[in-house]
Amino acid sequence: MEIMSIITFAVFIFLVFLLHSILKFFSIGIKKLPLPPGTLGWPYIGETFQLYSQNPNVFFASKVKKFGSIFKTHILGCPCVMISSPEAARLVLATKAHLFKPTFPASKMRMLGNQAIFFQQGDYHAKLRKLVLRAFMPESIRNMVSDIDSVAINTLGSWEGRQINTYQEMKTYTFNVALLSIFGKDEVLYREDLKRCYHILEKGYNSMPINLPGTLFHKAMKARKELAQILAKILSVRRQMKQNHTDLLGSFMGDKEGLTDQQIADNIIGAIFAARDTTASVLTWILKFLGENPSVLEAVTNEQDEIIRAKEENNEEKALNWADTKKMPMTSKVIQESLRVASILSFTFREAVEDVEFEGYLIPKGWKVLPLFRNIHHSPENFPEPEKFDPSRFEVSPKPNTFMPFGNGSHACPGNELAKLEILVLIHHLTTKYRWSMMGPRNGIQYGPFPLPQNGLPIKLSRKT
Ligand code: HEM
Repeated sequence: MEIMSIITFAVFIFLVFLLHSILKFFSIGIKKLPLPPGTLGWPYIGETFQLYSQNPNVFFASKVKKFGSIFKTHILGCPCVMISSPEAARLVLATKAHLFKPTFPASKMRMLGNQAIFFQQGDYHAKLRKLVLRAFMPESIRNMVSDIDSVAINTLGSWEGRQINTYQEMKTYTFNVALLSIFGKDEVLYREDLKRCYHILEKGYNSMPINLPGTLFHKAMKARKELAQILAKILSVRRQMKQNHTDLLGSFMGDKEGLTDQQIADNIIGAIFAARDTTASVLTWILKFLGENPSVLEAVTNEQDEIIRAKEENNEEKALNWADTKKMPMTSKVIQESLRVASILSFTFREAVEDVEFEGYLIPKGWKVLPLFRNIHHSPENFPEPEKFDPSRFEVSPKPNTFMPFGNGSHACPGNELAKLEILVLIHHLTTKYRWSMMGPRNGIQYGPFPLPQNGLPIKLSRKT
């Protein structure tokens, strides 16, 4: 009996040793692989200036030309691997997502809230995602169409007869739609306070992260605290009312979910952050592209006029409904093509959680990995004549994994249906009731942080007679 135990123990030790040796062999094997081609630039500074002192596309394009679709560089104090092939982007974002965690600078995480969905993995992330998707899936947002319709009509009415900065005005529109989807239409009590605090937060988000009295960063951190206090008041009113709500806040507050107030606050602030500037930038680009392409504008206007005509003929209510938004194939193609050409999120960030073998190269643990959406959307192999604005190219589906304006995999945008819906509704009213002319220079692009037409695209709007 005793001999049997000794033998079993010896076999066990041998197996442990064997396993350890196999693992070591493979990890050394990985370590022996070369790093991807490319240059790391100066110590610490790396190639940050090369990237940010010019149009970033020039940097990416010249690197791809020199080193191919996967290359290393060093920006903002971090060694990075940039990838621009559709298959590799899919591996990082979807198939091997467990090896690449989402990553943000610590100062930005603190400002948005450490417990916001963007930074999570595993069970907590899956739970948040379920709750966000529940509020933004088509079955939930279809009831919001008439409310978004009113917001769009009021927004456009407020532009009449004056020169406006399209981007700034679109931010007001997308902010109001975001509040509608998060708090429902009855939450008016704290609207102005939410706007004021969010405005201060936004200014600090892109400033130097120096937390000293007087700095934009410090003011933003204070506004962040005040936002959490406002949200606590809204939560307490809702708890007293004991009604069921289908908006995002209602989804987060579900009894079974057990989210803390802090977790709810971080994710509400995160949702506003994800929803507002992204959608506003895309809308701004759409106005530019339509303004520059009269035949496309005419086709969109005809499609939208037809919706009004059909509603009148059938004695339907004037306000748009969900079914109407499904009769807009031309406008939808314009949205797709604008998302492609503008590629407002040029890339996203991940971080290797361990040494990873990737297409024959080593990506060391801790290195950042950046799938370059813009390069994929602007490669002539994926989209012939990529710089041309041509919505008809979406009459056939793009090749797999070549079109990902909303990302891919477990962190792909859960708000994409809402974004498309609010864009369709605004374009409906814009093209059927208004003309606009672009003022000022046509060709410049500014980066702040998303690419935008110069000066936010100043336009003048007038009612059609
Ligand atoms: C046209 C407008 C929009 C674009 C282009 C866009 C794009 C994206 C992209 C590319 C991602 C993935 C980022 C990554 O993988 O690192 C993302 C994530 C996200 N988006 Fe959007 N988005 C838009 C509008 C919205 C809207 C209206 C909402 C509504 C709240 C929203 C909420 C989110 C959230 C919560 C995430 C994080 C998801 C997660 O980490 O699991 N987005 N978005």
